[in-house]
Amino acid sequence: FLVLKDVLFFLNPARFHDGFPQKNRTFAGKISLKERSMEQKNYQRTTVTAALPYANGGVHIGHLAGVYVPADIYVRYLRLKNQDVIFIGGSDEHGVPITIRARKEGVTPQDIVDRYHSMIKKSFEDFGISFDIYSRTTSKTHHQLASDFFRKLYEDGKLLEKETEQYYDEEAKQFLADRYITGECPHCHNEGAYGDQCEKCGRDLSPTELLHPRSTISGSSPVLKKTKNWYLPLNEYQEWLKTWILEGHQEWRSNVYGQCKSWLDLDLQPRAMTRDLDWGIPVPVEGADGKVLYVWFDAPIGYISNTKELLPDSWEQWWKAPDTRLIHFIGKDNIVFHCIVFPVMLKAHGGYILPENVPANEFLNLEDDKISTSKNWAVWLHEYLVDFPGKQDVLRYVLTANAPETKDNNFTWKDFQERNNNELVAVYGNFVNRALQLTKKYFNGIVPACGELLEADRQALNELKEVKTKVESLLDVFKFRDAQKEAMNLARIGNRYITECEPWKVWKTDPKRVETILYISLQLVAHLSIAFEPFLPFSSAKLRRMLNLDRFNWDELSNTEILKPGYQLAEPELLFEKIEDETIETQRQKLEATKRANEEAAYRAKEIKPVIDFSDFEKLDLRVGHIKACEKVKKANKLLKFTLDDGSGTDRTIVSGIAKFYEPEELIGKDVLFIANLAPRKLMGIESQGMILSAEDFNGDLSVTSLLRKVKPGSQVG
Ligand code: MF3
Ligand code: ZN
Repeated sequence: FLVLKDVLFFLNPARFHDGFPQKNRTFAGKISLKERSMEQKNYQRTTVTAALPYANGGVHIGHLAGVYVPADIYVRYLRLKNQDVIFIGGSDEHGVPITIRARKEGVTPQDIVDRYHSMIKKSFEDFGISFDIYSRTTSKTHHQLASDFFRKLYEDGKLLEKETEQYYDEEAKQFLADRYITGECPHCHNEGAYGDQCEKCGRDLSPTELLHPRSTISGSSPVLKKTKNWYLPLNEYQEWLKTWILEGHQEWRSNVYGQCKSWLDLDLQPRAMTRDLDWGIPVPVEGADGKVLYVWFDAPIGYISNTKELLPDSWEQWWKAPDTRLIHFIGKDNIVFHCIVFPVMLKAHGGYILPENVPANEFLNLEDDKISTSKNWAVWLHEYLVDFPGKQDVLRYVLTANAPETKDNNFTWKDFQERNNNELVAVYGNFVNRALQLTKKYFNGIVPACGELLEADRQALNELKEVKTKVESLLDVFKFRDAQKEAMNLARIGNRYITECEPWKVWKTDPKRVETILYISLQLVAHLSIAFEPFLPFSSAKLRRMLNLDRFNWDELSNTEILKPGYQLAEPELLFEKIEDETIETQRQKLEATKRANEEAAYRAKEIKPVIDFSDFEKLDLRVGHIKACEKVKKANKLLKFTLDDGSGTDRTIVSGIAKFYEPEELIGKDVLFIANLAPRKLMGIESQGMILSAEDFNGDLSVTSLLRKVKPGSQVG
């Protein structure tokens, strides 16, 4: 009864990995936004982590928008401010899905993670995700550190040892992870439900709830067998978590805070930190043969291990010094692990700092459908770069503009094209190009001097002075979308300014005035190169080359004379280029093809109907009919009316919905199969006495069945 009541508060159901129940509720209460700035807390350095992606697939726009672009923007911003920051990434290479994939392909889990680790790493490099290290959880450093971490918890008595009954495959001789067990869902009777969840009705399950469980490894029926595992008693930390998060971190994003609150309003349960599995980090205690650390135990420790690999001598400072600020960038399905499980692990271990903020994003959809790796409903980064070489920044821009910061958002190719053409090209690129080309034309690319200021100039300069605080105040609270808008707004201001001042006209009458206009325009351009650097690093680098500047520094944004009169600029080039309709159409067609392929697969997967007895079949009177006449039914574009010789001597009329697939003439004279004893039905006022059999192709096309040899009309089929 209570559980059902809770369900009323669920929003945007999300799937959690590894069997965690769905707890994705939105907090309804008002949250007072206490903003904590670095200065207040006196932080000296920042450790930024981005969720370690599973190395069993590529990276798509959902990953980029949700985690890696925002994390990268933030880190680039801190670096521009000359703050001490490290940016830690890596691949998550353990866990059941990787073993399932390996088994399917007939290769080892190591083969799988080797393949995808390099692919993911390259995608991140290509898109300018500026990790200080991108390592992997199969590294030696990590195995050692995660193992030591576990052993310390064990030795300090922080873990519970519990014996439970788990499904065991006697043929394969191994315990079965939840995902290795399928069976019938007790709720919706879907036969392909998994041990942790039914994908049809979305309910969370435990393996013992499944009806007729089967092992996906051998197909045999698993048996329950006792096994020992070690648990993290989350319940013992519940009060501490409440104080730390619900009281201490009211400034966290409302989606994050709300999800934590909904967890903490329920009773937390001890959670197993080990698994009976052969892929992972061996449990480093006696009597734990054949067991590995739970992937969600080892993976977040990967952040620490990768820091250690990067900075073997000073890593502890980044994880243990109280003046270090720890920030985790993640997607919403990772919230419970980063806000509850990992902090409890750190707290239980002792000596570690806790996250100061966890700016988790919601999900990005693609053309209104949920991104899905298994359905290939995604824009893969490696494919994007083949189709749009050199256009990393366009994707970065569009993903930030549509960042799913507070709710799920949507990526469409149309929007991608519009934002490129109407914003990057028409506003930012156009302004930069006008300012640089005019300077080249009138002053040989030399920055002119500033003369007397008019009202328009003063206004432009004031706006320019404000951009620093505007962008800063948004980036400081992880509002990347709005921050990018502010940067773009400065480009709009520049565009408007140059359009209003019309230097190309004024040149003939007042060349001195043109000097001032271009001087101010160039300062705006220089500011844009800095303000956009965290968002569009490739374009900023290109722009800086055109401006003949190399060094970037955030504080320059408060300087209204970045470019001094007399300074020689380099050759201008176009910053962005228009994306044509055909290009977008190609992408759309690619998605259409995916959709069609998925529909076909779904059609093929249509299950065979329940078994019938021979006597059921015998009720059906199937016969051969000869088509004497066939015509279109007026005002019904799907229907054809047939006149059949059914062997009885009297013509039979049948109406059939195949007009889209046949011209009447093609069918006249042919022999077909029909059901002779189907109750008559009226279609468009015509009584149809039976049904002509046709087969439906995967794409819905119909083909009328016919016979291999000539037989007399009225012959029975069976
Ligand atoms: N691999 C996980 C996922 O893709 C994320 C792991 S984040 C870490 O959902 F904290 F465990 F590293
Ligand atoms: Zn179900």
